[in-house]
Amino acid sequence: MNLTRTQMLTTLAQAQTPVEQEYNDLELEVSGTLPPALNGVLFRNGPGRFERGGVRYGHAFDGDGHICRFQFDNGRVYYRNRFVRTRAYLAEERAGRMLWRGFGTQKPGGLPANLLRLRFKNAANTSIIMHAGRLLALWEGGAPHRLDPVTLATLGEEDFDGQLRNRFDPLSRWSSPLLPFSAHPSIDAVSGELINFGLVLGRPSRLILYRVDAEGRMATPAVHQLDRFSFVHQIAVTDRWVCALLPYADFDIPRALLGLRSPAASLKLDTERPMQALLIPRDGGPSRLIETGVPGFVFHIAQALDTEDGGLSLHVVRYPSFPALGDVEQFFTEVERSDGLPRLEQLRIDPNGDRSTLNRCSETGFELPTSTPGRIGAPQRPIYGIATPPERRLPFFSALSRFEIDTGELTQRDLGRDLPGEPIPTAPTADSEDWLLALVYRSAEQRSDLLVLNATDLSTQATIHLPHRVPLGFHGCWVPESSAA
Ligand SMILES: [Fe+2]
Repeated sequence: MNLTRTQMLTTLAQAQTPVEQEYNDLELEVSGTLPPALNGVLFRNGPGRFERGGVRYGHAFDGDGHICRFQFDNGRVYYRNRFVRTRAYLAEERAGRMLWRGFGTQKPGGLPANLLRLRFKNAANTSIIMHAGRLLALWEGGAPHRLDPVTLATLGEEDFDGQLRNRFDPLSRWSSPLLPFSAHPSIDAVSGELINFGLVLGRPSRLILYRVDAEGRMATPAVHQLDRFSFVHQIAVTDRWVCALLPYADFDIPRALLGLRSPAASLKLDTERPMQALLIPRDGGPSRLIETGVPGFVFHIAQALDTEDGGLSLHVVRYPSFPALGDVEQFFTEVERSDGLPRLEQLRIDPNGDRSTLNRCSETGFELPTSTPGRIGAPQRPIYGIATPPERRLPFFSALSRFEIDTGELTQRDLGRDLPGEPIPTAPTADSEDWLLALVYRSAEQRSDLLVLNATDLSTQATIHLPHRVPLGFHGCWVPESSAA
């Protein structure tokens, strides 16, 4: 479908307007036929509010976390949505104005309002997981928020029996009493073990590794000191390795601390310099730092596994340059000028060498990759995601995509002027029938639907109609009935 730049920008702006109503177990209208075996709950997180007291947040990543809950119950679907009631959210709700700085947002009032304000708002807006009976809303700069899986009531910050308590220097403890827990844990679908990380910035910067067993017990976190500051959104976990791709980044700590600039504006990534790969053996032993020779930036790692020759194979979504994510218009312009679309690529790393190989999986833009849950390091499965249609060189992700790793086959379905979110697979195992659940923003109606898609050909099996608009968001999870609370 041919769309003008103005049409695309208008659609994106209209999609990013605040959620105004919270619904309670509203039965939704369904078109088509829901798969009879599809019983369980879909949770999905994303920013739902973009301003406070008439002042717009400075960055899309600062929107307040808003959870959607869809309960699939023998052919019926019930909907509930709630903002995550973080401490900051509640205080700002009471005050009717912005009280916290965010990742890309300065408080109104200039320097006096931001000077030495070191505690940033935990937006709780990036992802949501169910693990060991805990439903957790995640944000990579802080601790998880635990929610009631039925009512979505916010129960408070989860510190894993004190294991997330920050025991570093006083400045670090003051700015962040609990350690950060990233929004992309790897969960082994067979053993139930969860592996995650947090990045603590400072001098030195540290990467903290967390292991949580199937019963929810966190082991003492492992601390890995970094040679320099970096910025990591997701790590790869295989049977043998934990791998973090480290871009060269510079962070103007004094200016951010003094309140002169937001953290986003203080962050500079040198994406022309090749990334390094930090490889940490899972069974202990010293870590290694590998020169990949690959420039750019990676938010998301779709799949990772060990190869027979002793290497690692990662399917990553790589940006040739770091995108201007705070401003949609600027993002469009920069991508158009530099062909900076994120693409799905296979990165092979040799732990004993200093060069990696990179193969492009598709020419189209690709983001929010997902796969059916499996064992960590398991053989490869199809990768789903949102995509740009082949004829478009702008970051307007109106298509859904499926990439078959074994054959290289790419299936795409363009939704025209409508915008899908992350497609979330539902099958409990890799070999049973799979469905994808994806929210889609209907631009003509300025409303959202939830699509139930055939995971093989991306055709629509059923459409679930929402009464309102859900802004474009990030990540979610499917909890089958057998493991739902
Ligand atoms: Fe993410």
